[in-house]
Parts: sequence; C-alpha cells; structure tokens
Amino acid sequence: MTAANSFFIKTYGCQMNERDSESVQVLLSARGFSASPSEGEAGVILINTCSVRGKAEDKSIGKARLLVAQKRIRPGLRVGLFGCMVQRLKDDLFDLIPGLDFAVGPHRLGLLPDVLASVLAGEGPRLEVGEERSEGDVLRGHRDGAMGAFVNILYGCNRRCAYCIVPTVRGGEWSRPAADVVAEVRRLADGGVREITLLGQSVMSYGRTNAVWPEGEASPGGFTEPFARLLEAVHAAAGGAWIRFTSGHPSGCTAEVARAMGTLPLVCPHLHLPLQSGSDRILARMRRGYDAEGYRQAVARLRAQVPNLVLTTDVIVGFPGETEEDFEATRRLVGEIGFVNAFIFKYSPRPGTPAADWEDTVSPEEKMRRNQVLLEDIDRQALTLHARWIGSDLETVVEGVSRRNSERWAGRTRYNITAIFPKVEGLHPGDRIKVRIERVRAQTLYGQVQAESNPANGASAG
Ligand code: 5AD
Ligand code: SF4
Repeated sequence: MTAANSFFIKTYGCQMNERDSESVQVLLSARGFSASPSEGEAGVILINTCSVRGKAEDKSIGKARLLVAQKRIRPGLRVGLFGCMVQRLKDDLFDLIPGLDFAVGPHRLGLLPDVLASVLAGEGPRLEVGEERSEGDVLRGHRDGAMGAFVNILYGCNRRCAYCIVPTVRGGEWSRPAADVVAEVRRLADGGVREITLLGQSVMSYGRTNAVWPEGEASPGGFTEPFARLLEAVHAAAGGAWIRFTSGHPSGCTAEVARAMGTLPLVCPHLHLPLQSGSDRILARMRRGYDAEGYRQAVARLRAQVPNLVLTTDVIVGFPGETEEDFEATRRLVGEIGFVNAFIFKYSPRPGTPAADWEDTVSPEEKMRRNQVLLEDIDRQALTLHARWIGSDLETVVEGVSRRNSERWAGRTRYNITAIFPKVEGLHPGDRIKVRIERVRAQTLYGQVQAESNPANGASAG
C-alpha cells in the first residue's frame, strides 16, 4: 500500500546532511506526512544530495532518474531533491532529471513542507533556493528516543581550500548563538540522549565571524575562545551525555581548546582532524593554511592535554601536481601522527573551484593505487595502535545488536571505535558499560562486558 502523504528520505554525504535529513523528517511529520519504512512503500521520495565529489553528484542524479522512471508504474509518486547539489545546479536539475517534482537548497529546508504541499496540490515542479542563511533558517527538531544526537553549531565555511565546493554550496560561516545551542543540548539531555555531537564544517571556527556570547559574561573555567567556552557550557548542560564534535581544523587546535578537551570529562578523547596531504608543497597549493609542521604542532598541543587522544582523518590523493614524492611525504606523516582510521578520497575537480582550472595530472589508475596503498598503511597502523587497549576496560555506550552477528552486541567506546561483545541479559541501547578488550581488528575491538558495569546488575548509568 502506498499512501500519497508518506515519505522516504535517502541521504548522501556527510553528517551535516544526516542532521538535515532528520530535521526535514521532523518538519514533514509535524505537517501530517508520515515517514515510510521503505522506499517502495512511499508516496514521496526525497534525496538529500552531496556535491563534494563528482561521484557523489552522479549517485544522486542516477538515483533520482531511476525513481522518476518508476512514476510510470507508481502513479502519484513524487520525487524531490534537497541539499548541496540543489544549491550548485539549481534550475539545471530539471533538465538533468526530467520529471523531477521539486528541489530545495540547503538554506531553505524550512520551506520544504510548503513546497511539497504545493507540488501535491498540482503546482509543481518547484525550485526553492536561497543565498544567505540566518537564525530563521535554523531547524531545531530532533527524532524522539534517539540515543545520540547531532547539534549544528556552525553553518557554512569561510576557508577557501582550492579543491572544495562547500563554501559555494553551504555559503559563508555563520555561528548559532551559544544560548540557542545550549538550550537545544539541554532539551536533548532531558529527553535522554546519551551522546551529543556538535557539527560544523570547520567546527572549531565557531564564533569567529559573528558574536555568539553576550558581552561581559565570563566563563567559569576562564575560557576566552568561543569554541572552548561552548564546550564548557555544553558540558554543563548535557546531563552526563558524552560530547563529541566534528570536523576539526589544525588552526582550531589551540592551547585553550586542548585544555577544554583535557579538563571536561564528558568530552570524548577523539577528533576527526582532516590532514588532506603531508606534503608542504601540496598543502600550499591546496590553500589549507598549515604545513606539515603546523599540523604536527596542532596535534602536539592537543596530546599535551589529552594523552590518549585518538585521531582520524581525511586525505585526498592525486591532487593536481601531486608527485610520487609528495605522496610518500603523506604516507610518512600519516604514519608519524598515528591515525586509527582515514577516509581517503581520489581528487575530483569541482566546477568553479580554483583547482578545477589546474591540470588533473594524476591518472585514475595512479589515484586508485595511492588510495589502496594508504588504506593498507592505515589498517596496519590501526591494528598496532588498537593493541594498546588489550586487557583494558573501555567505557562503551551500548548501541544494539551487531549487524554481522545477532548473538553479539555493538557499542562505541569513548575513543569512537566500535566494540563488539557477546549478548548480555539486561542491556539496553544507551547503557554505559565497560568492555574488557581481548582482541582487536583494524576497525573493531572485541571483548567482554564487565558484569559490575552492567546497569542491570545495579551499576549506575553514569
Ligand atoms: N575531491 C576529492 N575529495 C574532496 N574532498 C573535498 N573536496 C574534494 C574534492 N574536490 C574531501 C576532503 C574533505 C572530505 C569531506 O572530502 O578530504 O575533508
Ligand atoms: Fe556535506 Fe560537503 Fe557533501 Fe554538502 S558537499 S553534503 S557539506 S560533504
């Protein structure tokens, strides 16, 4: 059975997109639409799109075309797009995807229910995009009952990395007022959320381009930088929930942020800190604003305060002009810093970015080879780095039954590494337990729940 007002959202891209999809789901539900459990049963299918690489766009376009083709056998089906690719391609989308019903840009998601209602009333196709974002565009709704929640603190990006489409599609930086963020965190904590992730493209730049704190108010811990102050205030409002934030940038790894991470016990000792390259020449061409030594020093500042800090990263291989020597410099720095995981991306020229005008010098085969080599490096080093946990009891938040084996449960340690353990009576998603680690693989730790840490045995849920 297909109900015309049931919807399904397919999300591509980053955590920002995951969060936007959640907000859209809440908005549509509040307007009387119902979330459908599957694409096949939905009357309206929405695709939240990503533009970061050509392949990401191809996926959204391919998916949308397939869905539009299904209209022949699914009368009444409506297909809409939202997110980054809508901002980039605007009107052109309706030529690229004939039969598309609507498209809404990332700054105007609040209007999506109106757009959909008008399409259902026969007024389509509709395009809604805006160039600016402000307080009125902040969406605050969260799904009920979730164990973890994302909270946007900073929208857009003011960096001008030579390869990146994000400033074009997500606009310039705008930070939410701290009081608004803290109120949202408090609401989530009251609703039982156990893990809060603060989100921004370059999250540590929070409060650099617009004021977020009332003048004259002092921070209890003597923090003066807006992001460190926010961590402190969120920590106080989070009701014991763990706090994470992503993504980092070396320029934000100040001594003060390090002190906040080191002294606020609920802030998790993990950071996703994109490196992109380990070659000074390539970093300069990328306009990343740091060199290898700058990155090293940023990490050293953090580790001085958070000795067990676990780092993950992003690397681009095959940037225009990247030689074998540059690539080897990246491998060396990756090994030296000791990342436990990395997303490796093959460079993809994005129209309108500075690097798109430079010759794409590295062949697809060579990009693939560099990608493989780095992935193998990282897996090898992750095994060595994880081995230090064998025999330790790691604090873990229970997520639920393991996807691979229903006799096992999965959880996430404070270090953001998945831990797998045999099913134990009385455990529920969201419980905090201790897992004694017995063996490790590149992306997973395996162990046993320490019985005295099981809330069902009387341990506090702390
Ligand atoms: N080509 C390949 N990878 C890219 N990224 C951003 N832009 C590009 C591009 N044009 C990668 C970066 C970033 C991650 C989200 O995507 O590594 O950190
Ligand atoms: Fe996220 Fe960037 Fe993709 Fe937009 S383009 S969804 S900001 S990764």
